[in-house]
Amino acid sequence: MSRKRCLSGMRPTGKLHLGHLVGVLQNWTQLQEDYDCYFMVADWHALMSEYEHPDKLREWSYDNVLDWLACGIDPKRSVLFRQSDVPEHLELYTLLSIVTPLGWVERVPTYKEQLRELEGRDLATYGFLGYPILQAADILAYKAHVVPVGEDQLPHLELAREIVRRFHFLYRQEVFPEPQALLARAPKLLGTDGRKMSKSYNNTISLTESPDAIRKLAQTMFTDPLRIKMTDPGHPEACNVCNYWTLFSPERAKTVREECRTAKRGCVQNKQELAESLIEATEPFRAFRTRASLDEVERILQDGARRARHAAQQTMADVKRLIGIGPLKGVAAGR
Ligand code: TRP
Repeated sequence: MSRKRCLSGMRPTGKLHLGHLVGVLQNWTQLQEDYDCYFMVADWHALMSEYEHPDKLREWSYDNVLDWLACGIDPKRSVLFRQSDVPEHLELYTLLSIVTPLGWVERVPTYKEQLRELEGRDLATYGFLGYPILQAADILAYKAHVVPVGEDQLPHLELAREIVRRFHFLYRQEVFPEPQALLARAPKLLGTDGRKMSKSYNNTISLTESPDAIRKLAQTMFTDPLRIKMTDPGHPEACNVCNYWTLFSPERAKTVREECRTAKRGCVQNKQELAESLIEATEPFRAFRTRASLDEVERILQDGARRARHAAQQTMADVKRLIGIGPLKGVAAGR
């Protein structure tokens, strides 16, 4: 029996950090057990917001894929590819743009939000309005059944399903499964300052940070605000550092929490020891850099693009046949 297909993508807009590890990568790695997975570097999507300074997109694409590989995303089992290597995404995107009412995209909440919030970027472009339509094309090109995403992406998945229904209504044939969002179980990881971990807050710990940098960053982490003196009992559930223990060293987390609650463990010691756990948890990412070359990554991406194109070309052939554009079957060209 053939397995269901899963597609997800990540914009190469910076180095990956611990938040990506617990929120995305561990989930992707696990999904390989149950689905035929396509994992994509969404470089066209990245370009939509970074077009004024695209100089690092290529470097970040390689860097992100190195982290995927180090985390156990397996290019033999899954298809790892760069969106810009598979032109069928843009072809399908054009077709979907044609059938999507303007009001639907203008109404997508993330669109207005980003226009307002992404400072220092002019996002009032024609392309950026089409962001979620390109995302729908990414998914539908592979007839993906499930799409692991964060909660912020749910409106994009809803739009993708609406486009599917409209497509089926217009052309009277069911070509695509309605893609379902798969929300990761992991809670959001907070940054060193207690806000959501995000590059734009400058509160991240990247997966390839040096051990010394991790020690320094761990020292800056916020702890239980109600615990002023070391002899005060702590509240581990309200402490970011204690929550990290649960995620990165679950076998020790229980003892740590108990010692915090009974004031046997001070916050400074807690952070020092957490740093060592984080260094251990990120070791595969540093180690992988010394083993893998960019040539290898590029080979993996080329092989992925070939496999991805094969699937996406079939989809395009299906939809073109259905709609009736392109050559009539059986009519030979030239003489
Ligand atoms: N928009 C997604 C994000 O910012 C990235 C993305 C692009 C994506 N295409 C996709 C995610 C297709 C899932 C499926 O996180």
